[in-house]
Amino acid sequence: MDPLYKQLVRRLSILLMSLMASILLIAFFLFNYENFGASQEKFEEAPLESWNPVKLILENDKANEQVKQGFYLVNESSKFMGPLATDTKARFSGNNLSCTNCHLNGGTLSGSASWIGVTKRFPQFRGRENKIGTIEERINGCMERSMNGQKLPEKGPQMTAIVAYMKWINTALPKLNKKEIKGYPPIKIPETAVDLNQGKMVYEKECALCHGEKGEGIPYAENRRGYQYPPLWGEDSYNDGAGMHRVLTAAAFIKSNMPYLQADWENPKLTDEEAYHVAGYINSFQRPQKQNKSLDFPDRKRKPVSTPYGPWADNFSAEQHKFGPFPPIIDFYQATFGLTKTK
Ligand code: HEC
Ligand code: HEC
Repeated sequence: MDPLYKQLVRRLSILLMSLMASILLIAFFLFNYENFGASQEKFEEAPLESWNPVKLILENDKANEQVKQGFYLVNESSKFMGPLATDTKARFSGNNLSCTNCHLNGGTLSGSASWIGVTKRFPQFRGRENKIGTIEERINGCMERSMNGQKLPEKGPQMTAIVAYMKWINTALPKLNKKEIKGYPPIKIPETAVDLNQGKMVYEKECALCHGEKGEGIPYAENRRGYQYPPLWGEDSYNDGAGMHRVLTAAAFIKSNMPYLQADWENPKLTDEEAYHVAGYINSFQRPQKQNKSLDFPDRKRKPVSTPYGPWADNFSAEQHKFGPFPPIIDFYQATFGLTKTK
């Protein structure tokens, strides 16, 4: 054979082989990359039962010390900024709840007032104060009401760590928030008033096991950590100025989140009516009283209809603002002020 032709064949086959090798190599990388993507996805879309803050946050190299501190503050609030804190100067929250008893899975879970993206929504107009409020002021709203405590100093280490944590989950764990829902998906508001007997029946069947016959909750076995099952009423619960003390807000939270691990916003367990009656039931008992509540919502028209304390811009009774029926109140605001109320 012509040596020149031989050489050409050899060169061509070398070229062909290296081409095949490259294709194999690229295929190999693509396959692995896809797999890598998939396992990453799985890691971030942890379902409720497998929410693993140790792995996702505390052992995550991408979370700095301040972020981890923020997580401790919101997840074991009593120990790090409440009645169980050893340093008395660090005590600001007044009950033994943790922020994450209401903002589930470290504030990452859709449908439980998730904090993912929350810092981007502030500053925002706040009806309760009738002014533009910052994220720090919003957090202090929950400190004074849900946590029945005092405001955190806005530039102090606790507040800055909590805000750093909220910003971090937004960039590092956004996929945990499967759907962006501000607060809770609303329920369809029943036409009737809360029926406390029905509420009691739901409570005994679906809630008492964890939250106790008297709503007292169950603390962790090792003390100093707060509650495994938080209380729903009584001295150690949220106070009467809290959002959870409004029947429509509590019903929306309960429908999308309770019974714990059996319900979420995609697959609720209770009907709107059941959630409504049981929300009224848990809020029919004694709890701490917030001072100066009458100063809330200086523009009274902005007060949510199920705010159980006055003054209101209408003449419906305190009883009706607490337990409904709410549609007549909603209709009144529409007809009188042209305001469409959803809560
Ligand atoms: C007893 C339940 C409860 C506890 C405990 C609680 N919160 Fe809240 N939080 C709520 C409710 C209810 C809302 C209003 C949800 C809505 O939009 O309807 C809310 C709203 C918020 C918001 C605004 C969310 C948004 O999307 O605009 C922030 C931020 C927040 N809470 C932070 C905290 C922090 C930090 C703590 C602990 C210091 C805390 N909360 C403790 C019930 C609670
Ligand atoms: C299987 C146990 C369990 C059951 C059953 C259950 N919960 Fe809960 N509930 C919890 C836990 C745990 C939390 C706190 C979640 C966290 O910290 O991650 C909670 C939080 C709450 C909160 C907010 C925190 C607070 O203390 O105010 C309310 C309100 C609540 N549950 C109401 C209910 C109602 C109403 C029912 C019945 C329809 C119910 N729960 C059934 C375990 C349960």
